[in-house]
Amino acid sequence: MTRIVVLTGAGISAESGVPTFRGPDGLWEGHDIEDVATPEGFERDPDTVLAFYDARRRVAASVVPNAAHRALARLEGAIGDDLLVVTQNVDDLHERAGSHNLVHMHGELFRALCLACGARPTCDGDLIDRPHCPACGERMLRPDVVWFGEMPYDLERIEQAVVACDVFVSIGTSGAVYPAAGYVALAAAFGAHTVELNLEPTDAAVPFDDARTGPAGELVPAWVDEVLSARSPRA
Ligand code: OAD
Repeated sequence: MTRIVVLTGAGISAESGVPTFRGPDGLWEGHDIEDVATPEGFERDPDTVLAFYDARRRVAASVVPNAAHRALARLEGAIGDDLLVVTQNVDDLHERAGSHNLVHMHGELFRALCLACGARPTCDGDLIDRPHCPACGERMLRPDVVWFGEMPYDLERIEQAVVACDVFVSIGTSGAVYPAAGYVALAAAFGAHTVELNLEPTDAAVPFDDARTGPAGELVPAWVDEVLSARSPRA
């Protein structure tokens, strides 16, 4: 069976109403990354950082999955563990659409990380209120999102899947942040067919075999239909 790894970025959630990071009106526009997305920024001014992620969590809670998230869940429903979705997104739209075989390499807005005991409890309220950690009782919870200078989650599992896949698909990511940006080159080096579905062309580390431009809500369902019709037995 064809093994597929899909890497998603902020662009897949854009049509749900979640802002992307780069470009005009992007999330980083008007914010200094050093202030809101580094451990040092959190040490300097925890309230600003907690308020920033509390606001992002509220936005994420108010939106719903779009046709692209739903198409990937449909693909998993059809091919099961032959699909792994690796997302750089911290929203929960993939799982709300029905994806299970999913890795959040940059963490999750709806989890907190306890700086006292290391627990990663679910979190749907505001961290600026300094809630108690349900595991140890301390009030030292930060968002469980990966900041610049920190190690993304599950890198070993992701790299094993990337080198073993037959098809690698990048959806809605600018390819600006490593290690995710390097996966297309890794997949290609191990013989995978590489596909990009993005609103606009990107400066990928290596050219994709098949690069399609347009909104994810249109491109992803169409690509999933192609994959499924290629797999279904011919009449
Ligand atoms: P970016 O904001 O860098 O890139 C979003 C990409 O999605 C761009 O290439 C857009 O052209 C594309 N895009 C926008 N709308 C789209 C749509 N409707 N359909 C398809 N594509 C669309 O976001 P990421 O690549 O996800 O990391 O950013 C990667 C990482 O940088 C993030 O996970 C975050 C950030 O700093 C951390 O916070 C650690």
